[in-house]
Amino acid sequence: MNNLKQHRILLCIFSILIISCETHTQPVDEIETKVNELLTTMSLDEKIGQLNLRGTSSRVKGELPDSLKQAVRDGKIGAFLNVTNTAYVDELQRIAVEESPHKIPLIFARDVIHGYKTIFPIPLGIAASWDTEVAENSSRIAAIEASSFGIRWTFAPMLDIARDSRWGRIAESPGEDPFLAAKLSEAYIKGFQGKNLKDPTSMIACAKHFIGYGAAIGGRDYNTAIINDALLRNVYLPPFKTAVEAGSQTFMTAFNEMNGIPASGDKRLLTHILRDEYNFDGFVVSDWDSVKEMIPHGFAEDLKHAAEISLNAGLNMEMTSKTFETYTKTLLDEGKITISQIDKLVGDILRVKLKMGLFENPYREDKSSNLYATAHLEKAKEAVIKSSVLLKNNQNILPLAANTKLAVIGPLANQPREQLGTWTFDGDGKFTQTPIHTFQSKNVTFNYVEGLSHSRDKSAANFSKAMSVAKTSDVIIFIGGEEAILSGEAHSRADINLPGAQEDLIKELAKTGKPIVLIIMAGRPITVGNIINDVDAILMTWHPGTMGGPAIYDMIFGEDEPQGRLPVTWPKMAGQLPLFYNHKNTGRPVIPEEFVQLDSIPIGAWQSSLGNTSHYLDVGYLPQYPFGYGLGYTSFSYGKINLTDTIISENEELIVSVKVTNTGERAGSDIVQLYVQDVAGRITRPVKELKGFQKVTLQPNETKTIHFTLTIDDLKYYDNQQQLSVEKGTFNVWVGAHSATQNRATFKYE
Ligand code: GLC
Repeated sequence: MNNLKQHRILLCIFSILIISCETHTQPVDEIETKVNELLTTMSLDEKIGQLNLRGTSSRVKGELPDSLKQAVRDGKIGAFLNVTNTAYVDELQRIAVEESPHKIPLIFARDVIHGYKTIFPIPLGIAASWDTEVAENSSRIAAIEASSFGIRWTFAPMLDIARDSRWGRIAESPGEDPFLAAKLSEAYIKGFQGKNLKDPTSMIACAKHFIGYGAAIGGRDYNTAIINDALLRNVYLPPFKTAVEAGSQTFMTAFNEMNGIPASGDKRLLTHILRDEYNFDGFVVSDWDSVKEMIPHGFAEDLKHAAEISLNAGLNMEMTSKTFETYTKTLLDEGKITISQIDKLVGDILRVKLKMGLFENPYREDKSSNLYATAHLEKAKEAVIKSSVLLKNNQNILPLAANTKLAVIGPLANQPREQLGTWTFDGDGKFTQTPIHTFQSKNVTFNYVEGLSHSRDKSAANFSKAMSVAKTSDVIIFIGGEEAILSGEAHSRADINLPGAQEDLIKELAKTGKPIVLIIMAGRPITVGNIINDVDAILMTWHPGTMGGPAIYDMIFGEDEPQGRLPVTWPKMAGQLPLFYNHKNTGRPVIPEEFVQLDSIPIGAWQSSLGNTSHYLDVGYLPQYPFGYGLGYTSFSYGKINLTDTIISENEELIVSVKVTNTGERAGSDIVQLYVQDVAGRITRPVKELKGFQKVTLQPNETKTIHFTLTIDDLKYYDNQQQLSVEKGTFNVWVGAHSATQNRATFKYE
């Protein structure tokens, strides 16, 4: 039994002693005392009520049914999601705190994922900023805006490591790397929850989806995840462990099964790892109906069995499927669960509500005047610039001269809703500043023809109009990509090329001989192999949110430079997926000099003449762009790596230093990245792993020495027996501008 549990049992005994002796001893932890007071006096109905998160679809706008109000009055509901009418929020809370038996306040929840009204880039875009301030600012502003509507619990951050761009929810993810994801996790939670949970603008976070959702086979949403223990602990758990350390008050279980066990019924996950190992003391909510879905998963016989499994696994609160509400009493009567288990689950929820100060201040503070505040919009624009990734810039065509005559073409140049991306129920398209809006307000010389009415439009009917505008321009700005609906939940794609006839239109436009700048708005990396030679520049803005227009204007005209770096590996073809930089080497790693591309294979080639190594005959073995990659408007050189020693022992630090020089003509930033490889481990190790990054901004010809510190702890890893350690041996270290850098040094751990 861990010490936290011992502490809590002692507290219970101590507080019961206090209550029974009525002596005025030093007050024990007030929250634990209050929790225990409530637990000793609440009815079973009320306790079951706290385990019940009632929701509506975010589309339901109708009247509050009296039955719902009565359920609150009887203390049979603990929290709501998607109640967006503030009059309802106020009324339900008033009923709870004035009319229910123990006046226990409700928590109101919403998916406030990358902004509430002011919408920031999608989380995959924010990950591309490699900037924890961007993550913290965006979530703090979201909390300020959402809390004035009574929303004090967000179902974010989503911390699912994602290695497959076919998966629609890669859009919401922190990308493919656990080190970067863990840094973002802490920043999001600090932003959402703020400095004080009792602050009316604090919105408790929800680390989700616990766990392995991003490992869905085939990148197909909700699909099976098979993750061995080493992979779970070295790759998927780190951002969630950080979430506990950062004080996230809630977790959400994932829809998927992992190794045969659906997350909402996985006691090892919810109790042994989250509680016993990590000492998490908040509460866990299931994802929408995922308790009930253990039946189709083939893990629960029926609804009652589903409730029994989840309650025994340690799930505190059930979202929308009502099995707890319906079967808890029966399960207690049948001895399938105990009242002390129920008290523990309820106590976790009460503890969070007490920490949030909801008992003293249950009502929202309406600051709706701060919606779309100038400061919020400025931060949103800054986030777009810091998260946009310049992937190609032939002849440095970008930035453009101010008087360049543009032909703006494409289905996403003026789409206020699409630009916001997935999970933006509350963002208002009326406030979106599209590229067209901005070009008009900035007196840019341009002609605009969308050419395609939406991203999936297959019609060439307007190609001729687009062509005539293109012919009279200096540069074509093609703004394309995906409508928001093509990524996000349940929206996986097997083919991740530009949808519709966008590629055809780009190829037509290329016939004009005019340079083409392709600006992509999408929820995932888009395979561009078919048109990459037809365009001169590619700028990935993800779905940029409310301020996409002003940010794109600033970037293409050089007011600022795109500063993002890829948080995911960008594939050449979907057939390469899953594709990630921190892969294993295999026993037959590719030998570039021996690789024979499919079209170069001699007719009648001998069976084993092509070199038996790990690659694809057609698309080879490299991504289109590597993890960590991105260009700016200047250039940088990296000096040799300098190590304070080539041997490191236990309790010693190794300082890794590199001189970085801005070799271009304008100031600029780069994200200096440190990767390490354990050459031989007790289990095989990735070819490299991110262990540090620092953003550096330099004037032309300025040089700065960047230092990283490595310790043995940074090298430790888990094997499949939960052993965290590292063997003595040889390690490679790289420092460069992306994960494919060749700037390498070697040291030994002895
Ligand atoms: C959805 C999502 C989850 C979200 C929840 C509530 O199905 O999986 O991320 O928070 O339901 O909307």
